Amino acid sequence: MTNPRTSASPDQSAPDNRLALTPIQRAWLAEIGVGSDVLAVFRRPDRPTAEPPQSELQPTQRPQSVQATFRSAPPVRAPQPAPEQPKPAPAKQPTVVSIDDLPATPEGLHEYALQCQACELHEQRHHAVPGAGDVQQPQWLVVGEAPGSADDRVGRPFQGKPGELLRAMLAAAGLQASLWQADEAPQPPGVKPVTMFFTNVVKCRPLGNRPPSDDHIAACSALLHAQIQQLQPAHVLVVGRLAAQALLNTQTPLEELRGRVHQFAAPDGRTLPLVVTWHPATLLVHPHRKAQAWEDLALVRNLTQEAGKG
Ligand code: URA
Repeated sequence: MTNPRTSASPDQSAPDNRLALTPIQRAWLAEIGVGSDVLAVFRRPDRPTAEPPQSELQPTQRPQSVQATFRSAPPVRAPQPAPEQPKPAPAKQPTVVSIDDLPATPEGLHEYALQCQACELHEQRHHAVPGAGDVQQPQWLVVGEAPGSADDRVGRPFQGKPGELLRAMLAAAGLQASLWQADEAPQPPGVKPVTMFFTNVVKCRPLGNRPPSDDHIAACSALLHAQIQQLQPAHVLVVGRLAAQALLNTQTPLEELRGRVHQFAAPDGRTLPLVVTWHPATLLVHPHRKAQAWEDLALVRNLTQEAGKG
């Protein structure tokens, strides 16, 4: 006799072709509301251990892997605005002093410049470079742009290649600086030294060989004018556009400023002959401009000779 219960049950040996659902898939489907009657249609994959029916699973009883999935899955969030970038610190405003606030002697000015913190250039300098040369009414005040790295290292102006070129050209034009540095080669016989003081519109090196900014120039302006007032040079030679435009208070291009003698109104009320020429660093890069530089230096020599006659 056959047992009706056993004969009514599915044949255990027949292959089960129903789609299989893993416990995780069942848990997901239960989570989104698929009923147990539907889940029962799917086959369970063969498992080494029995699992409770998925319909009995409470959310807190989800298999560990499912809970881990829910815990670790990142929540879907609305796109967030990009985090605000930190704003660059506002540029530090330079301290602009007046000539009357500065020391009254060249030595005092020198010391003042060494300590100066009027603009941010003092933060990165090795040495401030106030200037070097004759401080007693020099025949020429030579004004450059700003110290370079070689100048910054030793605290003296025009030490690097541009400085070497400038002094060599001055000497070749018959303008041998009388006082430069102790180890200077002896002057050739017959060359009458010319008293000169070398300085820059900005006394500290701008980083990365950048040109000084208007703020740097403004912060150093009183110092330069105090130097002119105290040194009382007979003439001024300005090398480079920035220095020329700063001293002559103009935006005129260098091409139009060079090649003639300007009259510079000194702070003490005197009028000084002033010559503009190419910066020696420009001449190193554009040697074809040297012809114009020689013309300018010829003006310098003529002015020196004329003053010597008087
Ligand atoms: N060194 C200086 O002192 N000034 C310049 O303008 C360039 C180099």
